[in-house]
Amino acid sequence: FAPKLLQGQSILLTAGPTREAIDPVRYISNHSSGKMGFALAKMAAAMGANVTLVAGPVHLPTPAGVTRLDVESTQDMLNAVMQNVDNNKIFIGCAAVADYRIGEVAEDKIKKSAQNMQLALVRNPDILATVASHKPRPFTVGFAAETQDVEHYAKDKLIRKKLDMIAANDVSNPELGFNAEQNALKVIWADGQHDLPATDKLILARQLLTLIAEHVALLQDD
Ligand code: PMT
Repeated sequence: FAPKLLQGQSILLTAGPTREAIDPVRYISNHSSGKMGFALAKMAAAMGANVTLVAGPVHLPTPAGVTRLDVESTQDMLNAVMQNVDNNKIFIGCAAVADYRIGEVAEDKIKKSAQNMQLALVRNPDILATVASHKPRPFTVGFAAETQDVEHYAKDKLIRKKLDMIAANDVSNPELGFNAEQNALKVIWADGQHDLPATDKLILARQLLTLIAEHVALLQDD
């Protein structure tokens, strides 16, 4: 079921959401369950890889043989990734990372008073782009969660973030993507692409990892 195509490879991956604190009791986040990233971690280990999984706050058991690092915020996730990036040949960014965080996190619980309130947000660092510009860089795979023009936006992210490969999912369908058992991916690289139709996330993980293994093997033959 899982050929050992990744024997001897080391893979670092991120999964789940990140959480940005507003005050000691509130945060902003998103609907990522971690299922897609955990399926990739489980399958990568089954395919023979040494796997380090940086996980945002999710309710999932650690797959057998996988080293798991739990984090909350985007900055925590970036720190954990950059501490481990030099020991890994492949990086897969499957986490749904918060693009913005609260500018000034309140020390105490914010009391309600005015009818309206505004939160000032600041841009978070981009983990994937940071990994892709690191030297020496691992084979770097991103995800793209889109609700429209999936291929167009995914290709833009592939180029802009200088990735080796991107796996795009249309997250407008509630049956697929965020917090669903199944997903479908459009996998794109510099001179090719491949559609992986809707199926269970674990099967999809094997298909995506097989594509990655083929590309990494091609690079090693160079
Ligand atoms: O967790 P599940 O419920 O199983 O759902 C799976 C999923 C839908 C979350 C997953 O398949 C997926 O699409 N993950 C990427 C979600 C996302 O944040 O996409 P994006 O298009 O906003 O970001 C593009 C890429 O940049 C992603 O690889 C993301 O990890 C990365 N990124 C984004 C922002 C940031 N500050 N740092 C990043 O590294």
